Amino acid sequence: MTTSTALGATITGWGTALPDIVVTNADFEARLDTTDEWITERTGIRERRHGGTTASLAVEAGRKALEMAGLTGADIDFILLATTTPDYQIPSTASQVQEELEINGGACDINAACSGFVYGLVQAHGLIAMGLKRILLVGAETLAKVTDQEDRNTAILFGNGAGAVVLEAVEGQGQLLSFDLGSDGTARELLDAPIGGYINMVGKEVFRKAVTVMVDSARTSLSDAHLTSDDLALVVPHQANIRIIEAACSRLDVPMDRVAVVLDRTGNTSSASIPLALVDAIEHGRVKRDDNVLLVGFGAGMSWASAIIRWTGRLPEENA
Ligand code: COA
Repeated sequence: MTTSTALGATITGWGTALPDIVVTNADFEARLDTTDEWITERTGIRERRHGGTTASLAVEAGRKALEMAGLTGADIDFILLATTTPDYQIPSTASQVQEELEINGGACDINAACSGFVYGLVQAHGLIAMGLKRILLVGAETLAKVTDQEDRNTAILFGNGAGAVVLEAVEGQGQLLSFDLGSDGTARELLDAPIGGYINMVGKEVFRKAVTVMVDSARTSLSDAHLTSDDLALVVPHQANIRIIEAACSRLDVPMDRVAVVLDRTGNTSSASIPLALVDAIEHGRVKRDDNVLLVGFGAGMSWASAIIRWTGRLPEENA
């Protein structure tokens, strides 16, 4: 979809949170039938974080994003919280974050698995097109609690974390040039976790489908924005496996020096992974004014999402 509204949005603040407990590949090597070498070669992951609650991580990331935007919770009209690992079945984790950050207006969770942050980004733009002025969008996860820590197939992959952005209304199109959201419910059994249970995953099949849907979705967003991959300054992919990222980016003809990667330090943090990688790239000076940035993810569902942002918004002073 190409965006065409009188009211667009721009990102004016961002923040992240990672819990303190670092779980290294060596920690798994010590107690599971696995090795640091296998995990690093097959996934690119070296460590991930455990601990925290989804709300506590979301509050920390959200507070940083508000501070950077020079706002308080009272200035926010709506909080959208993308998560697959809410702290409670009822109510939404967003409602707890709303209380702690003293946010006005509506609050709800979005579950589109690892595509959740990009789904939320597009939904935030929709709310802004309807007249809301400022939205806090958070991706926050505590995947360690839904991962069987004795299962070498999944334990090594998933971690906890959060990333948040503040979106503010601007006249005209704003930052979002195009987006593509999709889901294939027939593939939902490839990755699921029953209520109260652990993640089950058909890893090889998820891998294969992930590369296909990322590439197709990215191409759709590029074409809708009348861009080619040469026009992309940065790709921020979902951080699941370095080999998935490399395969998808190779098919898109994007060299890895234009790709944001944090999974070596975070593992797969589902809804938090794209904002964690985006903020890392911004803070390392990898996003400049008017850069085209592609966000692209996939996840359980099987869901996928991509969005192209032209970075007209805030940047750290030295890059502006
Ligand atoms: N350490 C050592 N061996 C392991 C292992 C581990 N941590 N995990 C799995 N293995 C074994 C398997 O049991 C299998 O053994 P077998 O041949 O005796 O059955 C062997 O390694 C090869 O497994 P395979 O599934 O072919 O490995 P792979 O190269 O596909 O890598 C994944 C496995 C899970 C890393 C990979 O498939 C993947 O990343 N898939 C996508 C998962 C994903 O992104 N999920 C989140 C979606 S949002």
